Amino acid sequence: MTDNPETLWHQFDEERRRAASSKDAEALRIKYLGKKGPLSALLKTLGSLPPDQRKTAGEAINRLKARLEQAVEQLIAEFAEREADAALRADLPDPTLPGTVLPMGSLHPVTQIGLEVAAIFLSMGFFLAEGPEAEDEYYNFEALNVPKHHPARDMQDTFYLENGQVLRTQTSPVQIRTMEMIKPPFKMIALGKVYRRDSDITHSPMFSQMEGLVVGENVSMADLKGTLAAFAEKMFGRRPTRFRPSFFPFTEPSAEMDVQCIFCEGKGCKVCKNSGWMEILGCGMVNPRVFEAVEYDPEKYTGFAFGMGIERMAMQRFGIDDIRLLFGSDIRFLRQF
Ligand code: DAH
Repeated sequence: MTDNPETLWHQFDEERRRAASSKDAEALRIKYLGKKGPLSALLKTLGSLPPDQRKTAGEAINRLKARLEQAVEQLIAEFAEREADAALRADLPDPTLPGTVLPMGSLHPVTQIGLEVAAIFLSMGFFLAEGPEAEDEYYNFEALNVPKHHPARDMQDTFYLENGQVLRTQTSPVQIRTMEMIKPPFKMIALGKVYRRDSDITHSPMFSQMEGLVVGENVSMADLKGTLAAFAEKMFGRRPTRFRPSFFPFTEPSAEMDVQCIFCEGKGCKVCKNSGWMEILGCGMVNPRVFEAVEYDPEKYTGFAFGMGIERMAMQRFGIDDIRLLFGSDIRFLRQF
């Protein structure tokens, strides 16, 4: 190659400019600093030099060797860093790509309506009470003025459990449980599942009810009407309502409340079965016999109660005609709410 350290450096310098990777740099090291390289060759020529020149020539070669070594190391280190960097970058996600769209869940229409109804009564100062779904016959029937073998039991076809309890057929037993625990005056609601042996397009063996009970001194039918009218307006908007006489064993007098159909404005349609009205709840003044069962003085206290079906209310609100859709878990149906 050359026997001159200066020329050798220039040659190296040229080549290192062309190096493009740590591999090239490594090849340069072998080429210039390897056993068969020009530096070894130069060192070998020392012996043939006259003794007075050996020292300076030897020193020049050693300086070149150190310089080459340092330059090659630096080159390798630079490329190594750049390559590691590039490798990292190649693995980075591309921040300009659109993100993964996560499917959003939402509340079931029955849950939505239940929470909405509860929120309206809570805003009026009612509190939320609870009771068990596996209930004693006493709470579900007897204390509510429905004795055994009384025809009123046929209004609600009951699931009997092996232990003698029943699956509650209504949330009304929560009235009794609440009155056993606290003294009037109070305003309570209860929201929960109830069960009946019943299944068709408007009945499901399990459904949800919201119960309400107000007890105090001088609670009147006017309070009942005012409270429920205010509820209906918040729930269905300002529209005509009406009360029809009805019968429930635990209230006397009893009524059912209708609001004008929200779909046809009273003209008659599929949702209201052409009546122009939607029946939204049952209600009445608490029967004194119920107060006797919980040892409230019927001379001192009066009260009103009401109960409504949450699925039916969801069907009325959303115009759904088959209750089974609400229990079908069909995501295409549920997505609409
Ligand atoms: N428990 C009744 C039912 O399941 C609904 C009901 C009607 C509840 C009138 C009440 C009421 O509290 O006063 O059909």
